[in-house]
Amino acid sequence: MIVIGWARHADIAVVTIDNPPVNAGSHAVRSGLVAALAEIATQPEIKGVILIGAGKTFIGGSDIREFGQPLADPQLPAVIDAIEALPIPVAAAIRGAALGGGYELALGCDLRVADEKAVVGLPEVSLGLVPGAGGTQRLPRLTGVPVAIDLILSARRISAPEAQSLSMIDVVSTDDLLEDTISALRRLAGKRRIADMPVPAFDPAEAKAAYDKAIARAKGRPAAQQAAQLILSASEKPFREALAEERAVFQAIRISPEAFAYRHLFFAERDAARLDTAAASGSKISRIAVIGAGTMGAGIAHAFLSSGYHVILIERDEPSLTAGEARIAGLREQDFKRGRISEAARQAQAHALTAIAALDAAKDADLVIEAVFEDMAVKRDLLARLGSIVSRETIVATNTSYLDIDAMAEGFPQLKRLLGLHFFSPAHVMKLLEIVRASATSDETLATALSVAKRLGKQPVVAKNAYGFIGNRIYAAYRRHAEFLIQDGATPEAVDRAMTGFGMAMGPFAVADLSALDIAWRMRKAQAATRDPSARYVDIPDRLCEAGRLGRKTGAGYYDYSSGKAQADPAVGAFIAASRQAAGITPRTIGDEEICARCLGAMVNEVALLFAEGVARKPSDIDVAMVHGYGFPRWTGGPVWWSANLPDDDLKSVLAQVAAAEGPLFRAGDVDALISALKQ
Ligand code: NAI
Repeated sequence: MIVIGWARHADIAVVTIDNPPVNAGSHAVRSGLVAALAEIATQPEIKGVILIGAGKTFIGGSDIREFGQPLADPQLPAVIDAIEALPIPVAAAIRGAALGGGYELALGCDLRVADEKAVVGLPEVSLGLVPGAGGTQRLPRLTGVPVAIDLILSARRISAPEAQSLSMIDVVSTDDLLEDTISALRRLAGKRRIADMPVPAFDPAEAKAAYDKAIARAKGRPAAQQAAQLILSASEKPFREALAEERAVFQAIRISPEAFAYRHLFFAERDAARLDTAAASGSKISRIAVIGAGTMGAGIAHAFLSSGYHVILIERDEPSLTAGEARIAGLREQDFKRGRISEAARQAQAHALTAIAALDAAKDADLVIEAVFEDMAVKRDLLARLGSIVSRETIVATNTSYLDIDAMAEGFPQLKRLLGLHFFSPAHVMKLLEIVRASATSDETLATALSVAKRLGKQPVVAKNAYGFIGNRIYAAYRRHAEFLIQDGATPEAVDRAMTGFGMAMGPFAVADLSALDIAWRMRKAQAATRDPSARYVDIPDRLCEAGRLGRKTGAGYYDYSSGKAQADPAVGAFIAASRQAAGITPRTIGDEEICARCLGAMVNEVALLFAEGVARKPSDIDVAMVHGYGFPRWTGGPVWWSANLPDDDLKSVLAQVAAAEGPLFRAGDVDALISALKQ
């Protein structure tokens, strides 16, 4: 296969990059480019060169198969050197995406012309890397240092019009990209190397503000820190010196533990969105019925409307329907006010919504999602009624958080077309979508659900129908262990601080207060009769609920919110002290390290149990679920990757601490088997 070809258009050489599916900048692409440029250099009648991608894109990024391997020559900087050394101007004609190494290649050119729908950007930091082929040095010469810091540290993809306003591209083509690039190239007098341009002067205070903001947003991770330093170097050091520094940092960071963790997730996310059986193709879905327009139903409906689906919103009565419609309108208005959608999109979304208080309306849907109360009797009755309303082709999904989908489906005839679609709150924001396979769900149905997830921009993870599926079950083990910690001597604030220090988006007690304590309380009460009385049980949350402290919604939970902010509350301390006394526990000081070790160990142990039961298809799916749905820090690779990369002795000690705290009924998972499955 020829990856790079070139042809003459009068006195212009057009070099085509043809490396499907996304024209990744592989070794073959790099060496092909160097060879083509060398040939072109021998032909004096050629006055200019255009680099263009075959198919839908320019260069989508570097070749991920080369990630983590030693890089074979020629490397990307050598290709860019060849472009800059050519005495005639070179233009990048950008269609689709020019990202990472693809955009760095474009920055090596004298001119950048992009199709109006193209996106450009340097997202390396999101993979734990820094741009390594001049991106940190050339971009600030176009945009200025403060903007370059924002762009590179946020890893944002920039649309062509915005990229033009930031000088990242020179021309936006609204017609024929190649023709427009040829015209723009002819207008260029000669070489216009970014390397020869000065870095625009900037206000150090502005750069410092951009730096502080971007570093805080990137949670101070090493890749962000290093990238920011390199961008600052652009204004402080000669170009070649700073370029060499960038390359050295890139070579070191690409084999750092964080870069491997990010790469693990990159592949894990792709795997999680794929079905093992290639046979199933799925069916076409365009009309969605959402039943129940409460917190979840409204968010789910809004997510579908935002992705261009038609939604039929169904409620049990008119007042609930009106309230649900108002919720959706509120989300739409918020998107509009924040500039996320245009006036046309806002109107289109409003037109695509039909709201009705009659279940029969579900008959017109290709996919029905129920988000009614979390109550087995209510959901069972609903499914039984739906069975005689929807067509044989319709897929029916439940958004249940915990309930047994097989048991729910007893009166439903089309079992092959029934599954769980477990969205997370807020449903239009959270990326994770657990796709729950009930015992009779067909591959076809699963394939359809995966393609719907893709169109919604969600990250799917397939789970088996089991209590709490993947995420909620692991989170429950984490939360239970966090409660043990406060009974043993830690405060809720200390636990939250230690876990956010580890990188969790929020601590477990702050999360409990946010999502309200009464949901878990109801569940504990329902399970009370079957609970083993000899198992360790912490009654603190029950006492908080009895005292009306249900979390943020009541102004108090583990924290007091009366001042508008979460504050430690001595009243909670009193509940904790009483619980310790009743359990005969003498509190001791527990450091952050032990808090983290035990919380994470409890999660990993539950992961091992759940994996052995076949609830998740592969360990990497669990990492994806925890990162996308539960605020687990991405740079650790997820709980399984994290545990697999701990030294053996540390992991053993972490698990031993969990076992000791959990008491005699502790069920140890086979963590070794989990880790070896991850490595397969
Ligand atoms: P919610 O109480 O806010 O909304 C439920 C809605 O369903 C109400 O508007 C109610 O009028 C409507 N409804 C009840 N019975 C109905 C029927 N027979 N026909 C039509 N409408 C009916 O509840 P929420 O929080 O939205 O939860 C809904 C489902 O989503 C539950 O199964 C819950 O477990 C699940 N879920 C909730 C999450 C959360 O964070 N709140 C997260 C993920 C899943």
